[in-house]
Amino acid sequence: MKRSIGLALFMGMGVLLATTNGEQQEKPVHTFMHAKLAHSQSILEGLAVENYDQIAKSSQSLTLLSEEAGWNVLQTAEYARQSDLFRRHTKALTEAARKHNLDGATLAFVQVTLNCVECHKHVRSVQQARLEVPDLLPSLGLTQ
Ligand code: HEC
Repeated sequence: MKRSIGLALFMGMGVLLATTNGEQQEKPVHTFMHAKLAHSQSILEGLAVENYDQIAKSSQSLTLLSEEAGWNVLQTAEYARQSDLFRRHTKALTEAARKHNLDGATLAFVQVTLNCVECHKHVRSVQQARLEVPDLLPSLGLTQ
């Protein structure tokens, strides 16, 4: 009897944890976005030790990530442009790795890295604008 109460409690906790996790919208985005970093680090390792399979596999994973629905966090023209560039550079990186072109792959990786930074700059500026607009409304004679 005691055992089944314990089991029921345990299962209840599991359900509770599962529900709270599902409600946290931010977690999947965080996990999803963080995967980019892991793949990039793996590419750098591949470049450093001249492992073309590792480079190609990781850059292909980056391309695939950018094609998933979860990638489209912002609906701006600039975000779409940065996403296109990202796919172009990661594809060029995969291609260079397949051709065993180490210099070409290194250059493509630098372009991918610049792209990470550029897109994040854009994301931060949009987020900043969203934070500032409500503060500006009263000075424009508008109420919120
Ligand atoms: C086209 C736009 C775009 C590109 C390109 C891009 N990112 Fe991101 N990245 C985002 C967005 C959007 C977020 C989420 C920001 C937020 O949570 O407010 C993000 C978040 C992240 C985070 C933080 C995840 C977290 O919450 O801890 C990391 C790490 C990251 N990106 C790595 C990279 C790396 C590495 C690259 C390049 C290989 C890259 N990103 C390229 C749009 C982009």
